[in-house]
Amino acid sequence: MSLIDGNSSPVHDTHVMQVEHDVQIKLLSAFGDAVKQRQSAHELEVVYKQLMDYTSVHFLSEQLLMRMYAYPDYELHEQRHTQLMERLDTLQASLANDDRERTLETVQYLRERILGHIETDDAALAQYLQADLVPSVANMTGVRQADAD
Ligand SMILES: [Fe+2]
Repeated sequence: MSLIDGNSSPVHDTHVMQVEHDVQIKLLSAFGDAVKQRQSAHELEVVYKQLMDYTSVHFLSEQLLMRMYAYPDYELHEQRHTQLMERLDTLQASLANDDRERTLETVQYLRERILGHIETDDAALAQYLQADLVPSVANMTGVRQADAD
């Protein structure tokens, strides 16, 4: 999310989103690799927590963008994020049960679901952000300023 660095624009935000997707998929792969390599429970927990934390922040970042730019399909998109987070949560149970096979199946399933989400829901959001129709942050700030006067 680029509000923090002061470079916010819909096109820049779309680029940040793409970078975050790459990191998200790499973290999921790193988790799958750690399971395949039979790393210790502690190591697996560390990688799992990174994956969960990053994914959670990334989804929140997208949701903030959607709200900021009045994205019309916000609710459906948020629902998809919730479903993905719920599925990610199930990894903790299979880890706790030391069920490697189940964990790897879920990782593969999640990989396909997340990539599908990126190619459909996130692509639609990116297309919306890149269209000239979105209200700019500067305009929104101007509206707030006018309201304050
Ligand atoms: Fe998304």
